[in-house]
Amino acid sequence: MTRVLSVVGARPNFMKVAPLHRELVARGRAESVLVHTGQHYDALMSDVFMAGLELPEPAASLDAGSGTHAEQTARVMVGFERALGELQPDLVVVVGDVNSTLACALVAAKRGVPLAHVEAGLRSGERSMPEEVNRVLTDRLSDLLFVTEESGLRNLEREGIPAERVHFVGNVMIDSLLHARASRPEPPTAARLGLQGGEYVVVTLHRPCNVDVPDRLEGLARALGRIASARPVVFPAHPRTRERLERAGLRAALGDVRLLEPMGYAEFLSLVEHAGVVVTDSGGLQEETTWLGVPCLTVRNGTERPVTVELGTNRLCPGDPAVLVDHVRRALQRTPEPTRARAGGPPLWDGRTAPRIVDVIEGFLDRGAPAGR
Ligand code: UD1
Repeated sequence: MTRVLSVVGARPNFMKVAPLHRELVARGRAESVLVHTGQHYDALMSDVFMAGLELPEPAASLDAGSGTHAEQTARVMVGFERALGELQPDLVVVVGDVNSTLACALVAAKRGVPLAHVEAGLRSGERSMPEEVNRVLTDRLSDLLFVTEESGLRNLEREGIPAERVHFVGNVMIDSLLHARASRPEPPTAARLGLQGGEYVVVTLHRPCNVDVPDRLEGLARALGRIASARPVVFPAHPRTRERLERAGLRAALGDVRLLEPMGYAEFLSLVEHAGVVVTDSGGLQEETTWLGVPCLTVRNGTERPVTVELGTNRLCPGDPAVLVDHVRRALQRTPEPTRARAGGPPLWDGRTAPRIVDVIEGFLDRGAPAGR
């Protein structure tokens, strides 16, 4: 039996790997094993997602932890090289754009193990983002590139990636979203927090460009504080964001913002689904709100996911954080209308992406040879 090894490392990886693992297991033609790099290690950043998404015990845990980019990437590489030697997979699958993605891609490529990248082709055009470096290099090394939206096809063509490696399959995150909604009872997150559907603002921020620059973080904290004086604002904060806010002494600037611990997948999805508006710098949340038809304000200069702006509910809010206050107010005033997203979402965001990916993987493994780099 062939063996497919999928890498998980950081929070946004789990919901991308879960549908693939489920599909591989259901078909039973290839064995599916996981390696957890340990990039995220807090229970609320990792364990609750592994359990909530019904992922199995990893075949190997690398315990790489935090550090500078070089330290983290290097630790994942050393651990993953050993894991590859022990597990001898026929294909390595990496997802997304985190440091673990690139680290494992590099090791697989150098050991001659075929490599698949799920969520290939996304480009922000900002090389100052660590994720952009991870995306470009991982795509360059991959034998199979699975693309979520049409912009990805154009980006890969422009970079000279051979078309036969590229597969437009849609967005596997939406497979997880639909699976969670079908497996409900829905967690009553809003009610538990005493919030009325459609009335509240959900915030997540963790990008270095927002939270590592003290002036920027202060501007955002003050803007959120102003929003919270009019509407309930809930902010399940990434540990790095909480640490930065505390270090900068910005708790008071946040005013009535409710700073919460990170939430589990189903719990958070329910919170987002009933929000009046979402303010974020996350990539995945731009996609989830697009599908759910919830207004999303993205606190960044650009997005590597342009379909969320073109067909979805996403709007970019670069520059002065004070502008955010106005955008939030207007988004909350707007009567929610059935968005194009509700009418089906971007092409192939239909909950059937994992089966399409596994079709391609099976064909690739049946042919028994990598496409050649
Ligand atoms: C990483 C990804 C980012 C992704 C995000 C999702 C990279 C370059 N960045 O950013 O693309 O959107 O995950 O969350 O890979 N920390 C904890 N507990 C943890 C993990 C991290 O406290 O379980 C804290 C540590 O102080 C750590 C810091 O967060 O130094 C940053 O963690 P790191 O994994 O380097 O990057 P993220 O900001 O989480």
